Amino acid sequence: MAEKIVSKYFYNKEAAALSFYQKDGGYSAAKKALGMAVDDVIAEVKKSNLRGRGGAGFPTGMKWSFIPKDSKAPKYLVCNCDESEPGTFKDRAIITYSPHMLIEGMLIGAHAIGAHVGYIYIRGEYVREAEFLEHAIDEAYKAGILGKNAMGSGFKFDLYVHRGAGAYICGEETGLLNSLEGKRGEPRVKPPFPAIKGAFGGPTIVNNVETLAAIPWIINNGGEAYAKMGKFPNSGGTRLYCVSGHVNKPGLYEFPCGAVTLRELIYEHCGGIRDNRKLKAVIPGGSSAPVLAAHEIDIPLDVEPMAKAGTMLGSCGVIVIDDSWCAVKIIKRVTHFYAHESCGQCTPCREGTRWMEDVLHRIEDGHGKMSDLDLLLNVADNINGKTLCALGDAAAGPVLSFVKKFRHEFEAHIKGGKCLNA
Ligand SMILES: Cc1cc2nc3c(=O)[nH]c(=O)nc-3n(C[C@H](O)[C@H](O)[C@H](O)COP(=O)(O)O)c2cc1C
Repeated sequence: MAEKIVSKYFYNKEAAALSFYQKDGGYSAAKKALGMAVDDVIAEVKKSNLRGRGGAGFPTGMKWSFIPKDSKAPKYLVCNCDESEPGTFKDRAIITYSPHMLIEGMLIGAHAIGAHVGYIYIRGEYVREAEFLEHAIDEAYKAGILGKNAMGSGFKFDLYVHRGAGAYICGEETGLLNSLEGKRGEPRVKPPFPAIKGAFGGPTIVNNVETLAAIPWIINNGGEAYAKMGKFPNSGGTRLYCVSGHVNKPGLYEFPCGAVTLRELIYEHCGGIRDNRKLKAVIPGGSSAPVLAAHEIDIPLDVEPMAKAGTMLGSCGVIVIDDSWCAVKIIKRVTHFYAHESCGQCTPCREGTRWMEDVLHRIEDGHGKMSDLDLLLNVADNINGKTLCALGDAAAGPVLSFVKKFRHEFEAHIKGGKCLNA
């Protein structure tokens, strides 16, 4: 049985308390890191091959090293807990059962990049989780872990929880920073990237909850040990897979990177497809990941193998779909989400997501024409890669993949006026 890192305390109600966490060795990594030179902390994280768990999979140590050391502007560490990608529900579990693991990771990260202020940006809907965090932060201040003299090290670190207001776009790191500053949550033009000019104009690192929660283990056990857990060279450690949809045992599963294939995850760990039905498709990385057909699931769950298969691991939101569901209905629902959540700043995304939704509507309703399929692909193509942020790609990629892989279902709606499953 592989070691659990970020899910170590899941479903243990006692584990969120500071006393429990400290008794189990919690904050020993922060103590160690605060006594290390910042370059050594960053070197350890680089060695670990930890890649960002928010979706893009960017190497964390490298990102931290982009912070300019000579900057006079205050630096910030921001934790992204917007968790708005449909199919993703791991960050809320980390916050519920291991808020101190996250706080410890943030304290280490802040020391490494020289940030004296940190923010946890949490989606508005996570009301209870925000309260858990506030409580844990209070405990950490009272224990002298946070504040003017963090753990007696002389390093100052203040940490705040900032609640969002329920917009997917505020998960995109620069939309998040605008929202944090009290502006409209619209993505910024990049470059400059946040590491150079982020929150309030200062150098800023934005990291996902799961990314930061892995940091204490890395400092305690060494980057090399973390790197070794991964099956492939560029991905160290473990990942949390959020499995939802038509499996017998949906839930959160933590495995070393690349150690388990998508088929093994679904059939060996999640008990297979519900009601003895057949698997139809899997969306492997949150709803913005291109869909895989049932025969395409012998892929190790890691960034590169997924990219090679034409999809992405993204935020590891694995949505399993059985054969009772209509492909047109699913992609119409997914597209409705992106059309609703487009911030409207970029024309291809603002207009294109609506067009795609309209076309999908009429195809599903049996009023489509064959030429609508070309129109759909054309609109998706005109969004893909042509927007300031990746929300455009997130909307277009799934449409392109659903039409490619389930074209016969779209044609059945157009020719027969109804679903193949009806
Ligand atoms: C539209 C959109 C929504 C996103 N939503 C989230 C989110 O909810 N949580 C998250 O951690 N990253 C999200 N991201 C990715 C962030 O922009 C950023 O890459 C991430 O927070 C960096 O953290 P990491 O390096 O630890 O992965 C989103 C990106 C886009 C384009």
